Amino acid sequence: MKEIKIESILQVYDNFNELPEYVSSLMTKAIEARSRAYAPYSNFSVGTALLLDNGEVITGNNQENASYPSGLCAERTAIYYAGSQFPNSKVVRMAITAGSKMKQTTSPIPPCGACRQAIAEYEVKQNAPIEIYFMGETGKVVKSDSLANLLPLIFDRSFL
Ligand code: THU
Repeated sequence: MKEIKIESILQVYDNFNELPEYVSSLMTKAIEARSRAYAPYSNFSVGTALLLDNGEVITGNNQENASYPSGLCAERTAIYYAGSQFPNSKVVRMAITAGSKMKQTTSPIPPCGACRQAIAEYEVKQNAPIEIYFMGETGKVVKSDSLANLLPLIFDRSFL
């Protein structure tokens, strides 16, 4: 038996104002998308904005449903739309922001496991890393150079 160590390195910005302009402009679009979320059940709104290599910006937000599991997270709403409309474009980076109506969300909110798996599919498909930035409503912004940093031991097409 031997142990393996899995390590991820992430970058942390102190706040939105520390982001370079090309990221803060994308995050601004994610914040706008968050304000359009349909989240009457959880009161937890998530917005995301994706930049494609053709210059298009795709936004998405969470869409909830009275039948709870039928709802969809913001990240998958956006990336599936991007995949359906621009199947030959690569996703360069993704900005994510989340906030609750019940309390101020000041810590960075990472994408859920299902969304990580969905984003990983496109990273493998395009054979190029997707930069991910995530934050709450305010506070620190975390950057990952690649989705792979957020999902060790990824399940992908190589196993099929
Ligand atoms: N949600 C997202 O949109 N993205 C995530 O990565 C985590 C959770 C949504 C789903 C649901 O509408 C609400 O946040 C509470 O879980």
